[in-house]
Amino acid sequence: MSILIDGKKISAQVKEAVAAEAAALREQGIEPGLAVVLVGDDPASRVYVNNKKKACDFCGLRSMEYALPASTSEAELLALIAQLNADPAVNGILVQLPLPSQICEEHIIAAIDPRKDVDAFHPVNVGKIMIGDFDFLPCTPAGCIDLIDSTGVPIEGKRCVVIGRSNIVGKPMAMLLLHRNGTVTICHSRTKNLKEICKEADILVAAVGKPRFVTADMVKEGAVVIDVGMNRLPDGKLCGDVDFEAVSPIAGYITPVPGGVGPMTIATLMRNTLKAAKLQNGLA
Ligand code: GUN
Repeated sequence: MSILIDGKKISAQVKEAVAAEAAALREQGIEPGLAVVLVGDDPASRVYVNNKKKACDFCGLRSMEYALPASTSEAELLALIAQLNADPAVNGILVQLPLPSQICEEHIIAAIDPRKDVDAFHPVNVGKIMIGDFDFLPCTPAGCIDLIDSTGVPIEGKRCVVIGRSNIVGKPMAMLLLHRNGTVTICHSRTKNLKEICKEADILVAAVGKPRFVTADMVKEGAVVIDVGMNRLPDGKLCGDVDFEAVSPIAGYITPVPGGVGPMTIATLMRNTLKAAKLQNGLA
């Protein structure tokens, strides 16, 4: 039976460290601020935004919410981004994705000042991650690395398989594992022999967006299994990309959903907001 990786506990430790540093910054008259922009009324996005605000409160960071109607035009959102870029009280800007179809996500991401891009989605920050010399950690992948590190299993030299090649998770995840000297394979919908490749993984990261996609026959005995999935089932329950019941007897370590990767994404966002405030005040 595998050991459960407790994302709630590990994220609390990260947020406590951020809170301690934020308190020290406040002593110097600096109050890190995060602007969170939500366009439309997608219920899942609303939950994520609320959780980000709660984490800011916990860490002693100032959060400013901008909730815009679903009918907002790209020009209107770009005008808000320009205003936030110019506001010295705003250290970090997060535009919750996905955006309504009339707005091009790439245009919005490119408009955010890279120094305030706490999601690390701007092409400048993506490039820096590729090079390995970056200010902001990609939130979900960095959270996954913390979870892997919590097991004590070293990444160096391990066979790492990432399922999914999104810009938000799959690609930066592969890059962080590579920076840690893992031997990395990225699998996707066109991959042949997916099962066989996954079964070779010492560290398996599932970021496919399909409920219970990773089955027991895809997992090596003793592997570290990180489940990035957050799928809503017809009965309203949340379910990961990994068939938890079937895989947990085989894996060495496994993350639950919820309570695994999700809280770590937010913890990294808090870290990035603190870092942004330090950088913008010449303290990092
Ligand atoms: N939507 C799903 N995940 C994320 C994330 O990490 N950041 C933003 N801005 N939107 C998201």
